[in-house]
Amino acid sequence: MNDWAASAHPGWPVTLAAERVTLRPLRRRDAADWERLQLANEGWLSPWEPSAPATWAVRHSRGNFRRMVRALRRRANLGMCLPFAVVVDGKFAGQLTVDNVVRGVMRGAHLGYWIDQSVAGRGHMSLAVAMVVEHCFGPVGLHRLQADVRPENAPSRALVIGLGFREEAYFLRYLDIDGNWRDHIGYALTAEDDRARIVRALGLRRQNGA
Ligand SMILES: CC(C)(COP(=O)(O)OP(=O)(O)OC[C@H]1O[C@@H](n2cnc3c(N)ncnc32)[C@H](O)[C@@H]1OP(=O)(O)O)[C@@H](O)C(=O)NCCC(=O)NCCS
Repeated sequence: MNDWAASAHPGWPVTLAAERVTLRPLRRRDAADWERLQLANEGWLSPWEPSAPATWAVRHSRGNFRRMVRALRRRANLGMCLPFAVVVDGKFAGQLTVDNVVRGVMRGAHLGYWIDQSVAGRGHMSLAVAMVVEHCFGPVGLHRLQADVRPENAPSRALVIGLGFREEAYFLRYLDIDGNWRDHIGYALTAEDDRARIVRALGLRRQNGA
């Protein structure tokens, strides 16, 4: 069954691919892979995840995943998010979500992402975010993309800086993450910004805006 047939928003649903990475809409039948990766990656992911009273295993059951996909689908069908599965070499490997999409005068959104530790550090998420940035400033029609990152999260900071995101803000006690209110650095790109680093990540020999 196509989970996304009802959506009628620009640029969604969509599949994007480059090199070994494919981004496609998250779907209910990813549940077993999602649960397996979440359970295997608890120590890797938990410092960056929202605080919650239930144990990691309870929160990351396939039943909770299916509920999450239902909620994301409703929001995607309202044009409020683009929830991608990150697939590496044909295998489910993580998530990349364009969330809090706001239209009108703002035309902005926030990025959130994670990848299985066993395939991390090979440039896959940089490539995935680069694809999503081009898609959001292109067919989706957004103007601003933001990523809020904990100062302690060296890989995530390196990722956004590597793609040319600008540090714009320092938010004190901003999000309730891993059991406490955590400061975050606000990184952003707007559609006018030089995207040479994005283009380089995509391996395309073209100029910004071409
Ligand atoms: C953040 C994350 C998605 C990056 O995914 P990835 O596929 O490993 O990213 P890439 O391989 O494209 O590397 C991105 C940058 O991080 C750097 N990096 C990778 N591992 C690193 C580490 N342990 N310490 C410091 N920098 C690191 C890479 O060198 C690269 O920087 P560069 O472009 O300057 O070389 C991954 O680390 C992750 O899933 N972490 C846990 C969840 C998380 O933090 N989500 C984001 C919350 S804001």
